[in-house]
Amino acid sequence: MKQDIHAYLTGQGVSEELIREAAAFRERYPVEPEFAGRVEVPAMPFLGKDTLEMAMAGLLQGENLLLCGGKATGKNVLCQTLSWVFGRPAFDISCHIHTDSASLIGTDTFRDNQVQFRKGPVTLCAQAGGFGVLDEINMAKNDAVSVLHAALDHRRRIDVPGYQRIPLHPAARFLATMNLGYAGTRELNEALVSRFLVVDMPPLQKETLEDLLRRYFPDMKNPALEQFSGLFLDLQRKAGNGEISTKALDLRGMIGGIRAIRSGLWPSLAIRMGVLNKSFDSFEKEILEDAANTRIPAGWSREDVFGG
Ligand SMILES: Nc1ncnc2c1ncn2[C@@H]1O[C@H](COP(=O)(O)OP(=O)(O)OP(=O)(O)O)[C@@H](O)[C@H]1O
Ligand SMILES: [Mg+2]
Repeated sequence: MKQDIHAYLTGQGVSEELIREAAAFRERYPVEPEFAGRVEVPAMPFLGKDTLEMAMAGLLQGENLLLCGGKATGKNVLCQTLSWVFGRPAFDISCHIHTDSASLIGTDTFRDNQVQFRKGPVTLCAQAGGFGVLDEINMAKNDAVSVLHAALDHRRRIDVPGYQRIPLHPAARFLATMNLGYAGTRELNEALVSRFLVVDMPPLQKETLEDLLRRYFPDMKNPALEQFSGLFLDLQRKAGNGEISTKALDLRGMIGGIRAIRSGLWPSLAIRMGVLNKSFDSFEKEILEDAANTRIPAGWSREDVFGG
């Protein structure tokens, strides 16, 4: 596995120094067997040198990261990749409107006729030296996450009322994700943001996108790959210019649509399901249709997309 991490990071062009430091980090902090099942190799690692380098450098200096970006910009893929690169058990902590301090750090339960503290995911992660992913952190109310302040700053501890203070394992880090566009999200307060280094997820570049589609679909024909990637970039540009919203700018949807072509679906229909139909505005849909029609001809079948 070590070899794979090295090959992946080198392939992304990450600096030798960061690669060395990440390897030293893995050596310094071996994972307890109890948590070994949480150290995962991502099915698809994150692609993007600059973002990786920023994230790795921050984590090596003991910082926590806040990843900001639109939908399907790879925030969770980056979290998985970083846990793998640093050899850490990962803890997913989904935040929502009902998130409270008990669901994060833990709560009293009654077991064997005794009151016992049942650890929440943040406490488990802190003790295991894990990477805790506070997913969609801006869905939670600010006072719920304020219980994390001491864990996220130089104090590196969790104060459980009525119990002892729990210090963070030196390898523990928190990676928060947020998507400003989603309904139900709120602004994070400054005290919380100040405890993170903030990484803006960049728009996809042509080379990265083609590399990504090639990894997902090794048997896709080159002209088809160019057109799908071209369509995504056209939409990304139009959304950047404000011609369309970001509703249809959905790489996850495009990948799902292309998968459906494998089952025999016409490419022009697949792209509708995965991308175009994500907009419910008739005016916008017309622009999307035009963009798709110029890239994915109506006459294309599965054989135009896949096969030797
Ligand atoms: N730079 C990237 N490298 C690798 N995969 C990427 C990248 N950008 C997007 N993807 C792909 O986009 C899809 C969505 O990724 P992910 O779930 O990490 O997005 P997200 O930013 O967490 O989205 P959301 O805000 O909707 O939760 C995955 O299929 C992933 O492979
Ligand atoms: Mg996500």
